[in-house]
Amino acid sequence: MKIAFVGKGGSGKTTLSSLFIRHLAAVGAPVIAIDADINQHLGAALGLDEAVAAGLPAMGDRLALIKDYLRGTNPRIGSAESMIKTTPPGEGSRLLRVREDNPVYDACARPVELDGGPVRLMVTGPFTDADLGVACYHSKTGAVELCLNHLVDGPDEYVVVDMTAGSDSFASGMFTRFDITFLVAEPTRKGVSVYRQYKDYARDFGVELKVVGNKVQGQDDLDFLRAEVGDDLLVTVGHSDWVRAMEKGRPPRFDQLEDVNRRALETLRTTADATYERRDWERYTRQMVHFHLKNAQSWANERHGVDLAAQVDPDFVLSEGVVEPA
Ligand SMILES: Nc1ncnc2c1ncn2[C@@H]1O[C@H](COP(=O)(O)OP(=O)(O)OP(=O)(O)O)[C@@H](O)[C@H]1O
Ligand SMILES: [Mg+2]
Repeated sequence: MKIAFVGKGGSGKTTLSSLFIRHLAAVGAPVIAIDADINQHLGAALGLDEAVAAGLPAMGDRLALIKDYLRGTNPRIGSAESMIKTTPPGEGSRLLRVREDNPVYDACARPVELDGGPVRLMVTGPFTDADLGVACYHSKTGAVELCLNHLVDGPDEYVVVDMTAGSDSFASGMFTRFDITFLVAEPTRKGVSVYRQYKDYARDFGVELKVVGNKVQGQDDLDFLRAEVGDDLLVTVGHSDWVRAMEKGRPPRFDQLEDVNRRALETLRTTADATYERRDWERYTRQMVHFHLKNAQSWANERHGVDLAAQVDPDFVLSEGVVEPA
């Protein structure tokens, strides 16, 4: 299951992603955690110390390796250089699976020990001011999009992505790559305005979007969220002393998390799991092709001097059943 946490800055995306990841790890589920936010804090929220978190390998710096591995023997992709973030897999491409070892994980993922077992953590890499608004900024999250487009995850396997809700995720196809998107919203006008913007983009692509209210303090907060987002409100989380203790550098054991918050995390899991039956690999493949053709036309053909539409394998449908080259 591919799950994104999005929302306004400071709403609690990283906190809720990290709690959800801990919850999955506690039941022994295989998890890949990906930090794709501008503010790279997921490692720290999973308990890594700052120096270790800052030293994690950045996916954005290993794009050449990622591309070279993923293109495999796909005859439509002549070189890693011709591959852009939206180049879709086709016959001969290598795919990624949650539980395997592969060169992409060797280069980009690091194990993080949580109560219950280890998860794999991958990070896009820190974004500097110079990155914002220019091509290399997109190429950092582009590494995540490429991996998601080559990933065949099954039920009971989880890829959890901590993401921004900024317009950048709409410039690419990234926002369509998930089985479910949890929009974290505080009960404020700004919190719900991000929801509306997201909902508008998401509608045309059949994106499954649910709101997780955060820092919800009482009936008035709850009423506000209900009035603003209606049935899209899935669950709410209040202030957590467990989170606060962790932020003080004294993380309690995860089984000390408040019951009410644990139940909220379980609701997120069952809701994510329930989307599996509705998963549509054909649509998933069609959408990645759509965004690839859009990118090809808008900038990539010109940059590469060839028509990158030729990278699309018209007969290929990504799915758990695809057999890859040895
Ligand atoms: N339910 C909660 N209980 C207690 N503290 C919380 C809760 N949710 C978030 N916080 C605190 O609020 C602050 C912001 O949360 P967080 O960093 O998760 O937000 P974010 O959306 O990831 O922010 P950014 O946009 O900067 O990445 C953090 O200090 C976090 O510990
Ligand atoms: Mg964050």
